[in-house]
Amino acid sequence: MAVSWVSVAFLAATALGASIGPAAEKQIVEKSICGKVWVTVHSLNIRLGVGQNLLDAIELNWDFSSCANLPNQIGLFGSRPTGWHSALAVYQVTSATGHIITNISLGEPDLPGGWQSGGGLRGPQCLWPWVGAGNEHVQTFNCLKIQPTWMEDYGERINKLRIGDLAIPGTHNAGAWRFDTEISTVTRDSFVLCQDRSIWAQLVHGIRYFDFRIAYYDFYDRIEDRYWLNHNLIRVRPLLPLLREIRAFLDVTREVVFLDAHHFPVGFYDQNGAPIRSVHSGLLHMVQKELGAHIAVATQFYTGPGTKGPTLQTLKDADKRLVFNYVDNTIVAENNWLWPILPHLWANTNNPTALFQYLDRAISTSPQPNARSPLFSAMAQTTPTVLDILFVRGSLRANADQVNRNVTARLASVWRQRANIVSTDFFLANDVVDVSIEISVERSNRL
Ligand SMILES: *[C@@H]1O[C@H](CO)[C@@H](O)[C@H](O)[C@H]1NC(C)=O
Ligand SMILES: *[C@@H]1O[C@H](CO)[C@@H](O)[C@H](O)[C@H]1NC(C)=O
Repeated sequence: MAVSWVSVAFLAATALGASIGPAAEKQIVEKSICGKVWVTVHSLNIRLGVGQNLLDAIELNWDFSSCANLPNQIGLFGSRPTGWHSALAVYQVTSATGHIITNISLGEPDLPGGWQSGGGLRGPQCLWPWVGAGNEHVQTFNCLKIQPTWMEDYGERINKLRIGDLAIPGTHNAGAWRFDTEISTVTRDSFVLCQDRSIWAQLVHGIRYFDFRIAYYDFYDRIEDRYWLNHNLIRVRPLLPLLREIRAFLDVTREVVFLDAHHFPVGFYDQNGAPIRSVHSGLLHMVQKELGAHIAVATQFYTGPGTKGPTLQTLKDADKRLVFNYVDNTIVAENNWLWPILPHLWANTNNPTALFQYLDRAISTSPQPNARSPLFSAMAQTTPTVLDILFVRGSLRANADQVNRNVTARLASVWRQRANIVSTDFFLANDVVDVSIEISVERSNRL
């Protein structure tokens, strides 16, 4: 595994057209002699003192379980580590796997490589925090990355994978990253917001699957203002600008994006449970208008029940790179471009141990032999109970902090063979993007 990491990093360099020599050296964003280090962002605010909060503390993580000897120290760096003299903070390593929560905040750096507000450089790019580990010398290093073009960077390998055989990093309640409504209370912030990056930033970081909960409010004059992303019954953000962010990303890359209209909590069904046609078709018109040029029409690319769907190559060659899944079978049957209901593995528990027991079993038995959808999503987050919310017991940030490190470890081990989409809350607190890329490359090597 250690060897494959080095080669993955080098592959990234060569995919950029860099040759051996200083140019290749410059592109290396991670390196490992054995084991792995990575940077994450702490999802909880840390109270330092009265009125003093540390937001977005940087975490340093390591897994040296494959190493004959443990490196004895790990440090945080502001650029690619050249030696310990340039470390911003250094910590002792005393266990094979672990993490340190530093006292240093990520701050609000722009997305690197020109990606802040539009298309930029191909290949992985580093934000400022780097992690390095070793003894006298820093031997293993890595940075907090964006992966804006990973499907293109690794295309030669992964293009032959079917979409059901990819490992795809996703976000749960992808739109719930900041309120855009009149009021916001502590309860709402603690239990509604699941992400802290915009859809554009999520895409640039490498997220390729979005779980959207869409609601309809007829009190807005303009039809396009009536569709919102919700967290259950709570209105969070208008949908239209989010579709435009996805459109902008598809326009400037060759990446494939999976969008999932997963739940319609308000306004889409009448009292008897029948779909309200005009509301559904209003949404479909809007999605077609905004994303139409990129939509992969299901009847054209679908490969039948119990199969893994088209290859990435097929979608890229046709330049149809938006796969839109829809949770209502009646509506899917009437619209040839909609993809069938995407199954969600949902533990519906607030207990991390129960979550992992459930997902270990559910992922190992997925997909079902005759599944209609080539994709399935593991919902790798706990769900607060009504009482948790009433008594403001914990928060989604605290829940994410309890599970995100284990999600990284599980994906790299128990879920490695079968996981397809893994969607998380506060994804910067796990390493699901990089691990999914590594697993997809590994799967393509076996074909
Ligand atoms: C963070 O700061 C606190 C208080 O200043 C200190 O006690 C703690 O050891 C520091 N933690 C790290 C990981 O540096
Ligand atoms: C998460 O990982 C840690 C460290 O390996 C382990 O001690 C803990 O039991 C795990 N938690 C769950 C819920 O599996």
